[in-house]
Amino acid sequence: MPHQTILSPVARSAAAASAAAEATATIATPTGFRLTAHNQYNATRLDAAHLPRDPFPLFRLWLHEALRPTHGQTAVREPEAMTLSTVSSSGIPSSRVVLLKEIDDHGFLFFTNYESRKASELETGHAALSFYWREVSRQIRVVGIVEKVSPEESQAYFATRPRGSQIGAWASPQSRKVGEGEMERRVKEVGDKFADEVPCPPHWGGYRVVPVEIEFWAGRPSRIHDRFVYTRPDASSPWTVERRAP
Ligand SMILES: Cc1cc2nc3c(=O)[nH]c(=O)nc-3n(C[C@H](O)[C@H](O)[C@H](O)COP(=O)(O)O)c2cc1C
Repeated sequence: MPHQTILSPVARSAAAASAAAEATATIATPTGFRLTAHNQYNATRLDAAHLPRDPFPLFRLWLHEALRPTHGQTAVREPEAMTLSTVSSSGIPSSRVVLLKEIDDHGFLFFTNYESRKASELETGHAALSFYWREVSRQIRVVGIVEKVSPEESQAYFATRPRGSQIGAWASPQSRKVGEGEMERRVKEVGDKFADEVPCPPHWGGYRVVPVEIEFWAGRPSRIHDRFVYTRPDASSPWTVERRAP
């Protein structure tokens, strides 16, 4: 078990007073990981005869099956958690997990801070998403064009969030450096300011990733997985689909 040096209360408050974080903990280094288990995957087979022309219905079906799997598989706990990858203007990639909140007729919606690192990287106009649903041995990858959702849509979704998350959206200068204790202070200030309803911050809202590529991956024994990749040159063209080697 990893353990941490616990700071004394005095040291803790001294550390809290400092705006710049000073990393001082000593952590026992765990070793001896076993990362070569050679897990076998055994998803339901995917073949061309069962593919729809348009990948959206297949995405919805797989999401449904992740939540309510058949064949005795365990339900996926948070299938809406997806890795969002972006690229900076100088071509440096970065990834983080965000939550899929809606799939409409055009794409995949998530919500975030418009002044965050990811937001600045989404200015490139492109992003990739990846879902890994271990319990059902499935992966879905998306590459797409990014657009902001309308302020009305963002406000409508914001209104459904729990108060704590609404306050957090105002309080967090997402991706910026903050001092120890600063977030707690900011949360309190925002809570006091909006004693009643919390409006949607102007710096917060949704993005839609409009796919031009969607891959469905079904894990199979001995790494002979099924992969089908839908592509289209742009968002208004019809899709084509092909099987790809695993
Ligand atoms: C399960 C999970 C769900 C998350 N959902 C969101 C989300 O919907 N929106 C968001 O802005 N950040 C979300 N985060 C936090 C992001 O991963 C990330 O830390 C944050 O958005 C800052 O990223 P950035 O600095 O690259 O912009 C989530 C993290 C996890 C682990």
